[in-house]
Amino acid sequence: MAHLRSLPANNTDRSVRRWVKETLKSSGDSMFAEERECAAIAERLMADLDPRSRLVLEAVERRYDEGELTKLQGSLSRVCKGEPVQRVVGWTEFRGLRVGCSGDVLIPRPETEEVVQWFLEGMEMVEAKPGPKRVLDIGTGSGCVALSIKAERPHWDVVAVDISEAALSQAKANGECLNLEVEWKQVDALNAEDMRALGPFDGVVSNPPYIPQSETLEPHVQDHEPGLALFVPDSEPLLFYEAMISMVPTSLSPGGVMVAECHSEFTKSVADCWKLEGAQVHLLSDLQGAERAVRLVRS
Ligand SMILES: C[S@@+](CC[C@H](N)C(=O)[O-])C[C@H]1O[C@@H](n2cnc3c(N)ncnc32)[C@H](O)[C@@H]1O
Repeated sequence: MAHLRSLPANNTDRSVRRWVKETLKSSGDSMFAEERECAAIAERLMADLDPRSRLVLEAVERRYDEGELTKLQGSLSRVCKGEPVQRVVGWTEFRGLRVGCSGDVLIPRPETEEVVQWFLEGMEMVEAKPGPKRVLDIGTGSGCVALSIKAERPHWDVVAVDISEAALSQAKANGECLNLEVEWKQVDALNAEDMRALGPFDGVVSNPPYIPQSETLEPHVQDHEPGLALFVPDSEPLLFYEAMISMVPTSLSPGGVMVAECHSEFTKSVADCWKLEGAQVHLLSDLQGAERAVRLVRS
């Protein structure tokens, strides 16, 4: 277990930030070997104490009292033991929104922010047509995808489904905090009849569970993310994508767009599975160059 240094003697914002980074580095864990990673963690832990920017905190000569430093020490100790910092503070940023992420939901990932971007870009043609727009987020978890779409396209009706009641309650709480209206529904995405009953939609987006059960994950993922959000049976890695393509004829309007995040090893299989008469299917690569999502446009 990492040895935590005693609290910093100097309690200015700059000194406390430096103390957090040095504590992480001196923990000896390879996860904290990179300066950039330590700085990012320090940023989040400090933002949890006071969300104002570093420049403002320096300008107002912010000092942290003993209670705040003790809280910080407790959080730092959890991070040093391998808990993701987003879990420790209980929130993360997603497309500029602060999204709560209890242990019942997947911690929203930066690559999913890109998936939302691809979805919105794909929807430009649909948007140009007159009339209201209705979109569906499948497997909403924290609600990050649905909420960011609602924030960025407030005139659209957004529906979000998840099988997990606990996840939906976090998503609803996030919606209330952000004052964004999304229709939350507890639905099994693998139940074709229940899914059909929700439609039709102009757009469908999803980051479904896609990791084969036997895949070995990093301990910080394996131990701190809900299995329901991650895994599919080894024998059925395309389970959710098959369910999505079967919705198209009844639940996706002509010209409608469907985007799903994928395991980089299965992106091509998903694209094959989504081949449909008259539909265009594209693979999308993330900023690291990995194939990350598939987009279908219905004719
Ligand atoms: C990979 S997580 C994505 C969460 C969130 N959309 C995100 O991108 O951070 C997948 C979500 O699908 C939900 N899920 C798993 N099986 C489901 C099913 N059969 N029907 C509906 N949702 C399901 C999980 O509870 C989890 O919230």
